[in-house]
Amino acid sequence: MKKTLLFIAALITGMLQVSAQNNQAQLTVHINEGQNTISKHIYGHFSEHLGRCIYGGIWVGEDSKVPNIQGYRKDVFDALKHLDIPNLRWPGGCFADEYHWKDGIGPRADRPEMVNTHWGGVVEDNSFGTHEFLEFCKLLETEPVICGNVGSGSVEEMSDWVEYINFDGKSPMADLRRANGKEEAWGLKYWGVGNESWGCGGNMTPEYYANEYRRYATFARNYGNNRLFKIAGGANSWDLKWTETLMKNIPNRMMDGISLHYYTVPNTWSQKGSATQFDEKDYFVTLKKAGEMDDLVSQHSTIMDQYDKDKRIALVVDEWGTWYDVEPGTNPGFLYQQNSIRDALTAGLTLNIFNNHADRVKMANIAQTVNVLQAVILTDDTRMILTPTYHVFDLYQPHKEAKSLPYHLQSPEYSMEGDHLSSVSVSCSKSEDGTINITLVNIDPKNAIQLSCALDGGEVNKVTGKVITSSNIADHNTFEEPNKVGIKEFTNLKVTKGKIEATLPSKSVVLLQIK
Ligand code: AHR
Repeated sequence: MKKTLLFIAALITGMLQVSAQNNQAQLTVHINEGQNTISKHIYGHFSEHLGRCIYGGIWVGEDSKVPNIQGYRKDVFDALKHLDIPNLRWPGGCFADEYHWKDGIGPRADRPEMVNTHWGGVVEDNSFGTHEFLEFCKLLETEPVICGNVGSGSVEEMSDWVEYINFDGKSPMADLRRANGKEEAWGLKYWGVGNESWGCGGNMTPEYYANEYRRYATFARNYGNNRLFKIAGGANSWDLKWTETLMKNIPNRMMDGISLHYYTVPNTWSQKGSATQFDEKDYFVTLKKAGEMDDLVSQHSTIMDQYDKDKRIALVVDEWGTWYDVEPGTNPGFLYQQNSIRDALTAGLTLNIFNNHADRVKMANIAQTVNVLQAVILTDDTRMILTPTYHVFDLYQPHKEAKSLPYHLQSPEYSMEGDHLSSVSVSCSKSEDGTINITLVNIDPKNAIQLSCALDGGEVNKVTGKVITSSNIADHNTFEEPNKVGIKEFTNLKVTKGKIEATLPSKSVVLLQIK
C-alpha cells in the first residue's frame, strides 16, 4: 500500500525514477510542463568565523602581501564573482550565538578581542565586522544573510543591529553607523533568528525556541520599504518534531523561512573518515547519505504543507555539505578538509535534489565557502585552488531562476553488499530564452552509463555538454596540481532521431544544454 502511494505521488509530481538494467538509462523531459522556478538562492554560501574561512580565506587586511581589494583577497573575490553567488550567510553557525556585533564596528584598533570558544579557542580580534561583511557583499553584488544572536544576545542587541544596518532616519543606531562612516542604510533583507538553537545556539526545546523566536522577530523591525525575510532556526536533520513545533507555534505571517541543517558524515561523528584516503565502501556510504537529503526535504516539507498549504514559507537548508576528519596536522577546531570528485558528486546530487524540490526549498547554503568543510575554495598563504565542488556550482549556474521541469528517469543501480542506489540522478530546467538544462550525476565508480534522452513536447536538434569527472574516486586538486579535476567539454554525445544518446562516464557530473 505504502509503495503504491509513493508511486502515485511520484507520478503526480512527474519526477519518477525507476530502476533499469545493463547500464542503460532512459530519460524523458517534459519540456512544456513545470510550475516552479528554481530560486537562485539555492546556490547560496555560508562563511563563518571558523578556522581560516573569514581570516585568511576572505579577509587578509589592506596591508597584506596577499593581493587584495580593500582587504578582501582578490583571488577569492574573483572566484566568487565568477560563480555569481546569490547570497552569503554570516557570521555563523555556532559563532553567531556568541557574537556581539558592537564589538565589530568602529576603528579596528579599538575593537575588543574575544575568544572563539566553539572553533579552536583562538582570539577573534573583530577586525572583520558588520561593515566589512556588508561591503564585501556589495562588491560581490550578492545578498547578505545575517544570522542574529539568540543564544547569548538580547532582544535589544538584535533589534539595535537591524536598526544600525537598515534605518535611514535619525536614531541612535543610524547615527552610530554614520559616525562609523556609512551614511546610507544597507537595506539588508535576509535575517536569521538564531542558529541551531537546539544545540550550540542555546540547547533549547522547540517550544521554548518558538516563543523566543516570536519575541526576537517582533523587534527585528522593518524600516522604510525594506521588508525583512525572517528565517527561524530550524531542525537538526531528522528532528521532524522541531519543524512541526515551530510551524504550529509561530504564526505564519511572522516567519518567511525555516531552516534545516544536514551534514553528510560517512561514518560516526567521532571517526568521520578522511576526505582523500577512503575506499569504495566509504564512497558508497557517503553518496548514500548525501542522497538521503531527498527524503529529508520531503518529510520536512510534508509537515510544512500541513500548516502552510500555499508554500509561502521557504525551507532554507542553510547548512549542508560533507564533514570529514580534518586534514592531518591541522587544528581540529578549524574543520579544514580536502575535497575530491566524491564531493563533486555529493554536490551534484544535493543540488539536483534542491532543484527538484523548488516548490519548497528556496534557499540553501553550502558549508562553507573557503577552507572549511565542503569548501568551494582552498587557500594556502598566497595560493588558492578551486575544488571539484566549486566546478559543480559553476556547471549548475544555468538552473538559477529557470523553470524546474518534470521528468521520467529509468536508471540502473549501483549496488554494494546488498544495498542499492540509483546510479543516475537528474534535474532539468528551462531558462527564459527557452534553453533546456539537464544536470546528471552518475555515481557508479566503475561503469559508464548509456543515456538515451527524449523530450516530451519537442525534438532535439542541437545539444552541447560539459562534464566533471576523474580517473579515481579520491582524485582532488592540490596547490601543486590545481587543475586535476575541472570542467571539460563533453563530446561523448550525439543526436539521433530527435533524441540524445550520451555516455555518462563513471563518477561524473554532466550538464547537457539544448537550445
Ligand atoms: O558549519 C560548522 C558548524 O556546523 C556550524 O557552526 C554549526 O551551525 C553546525 O553545527
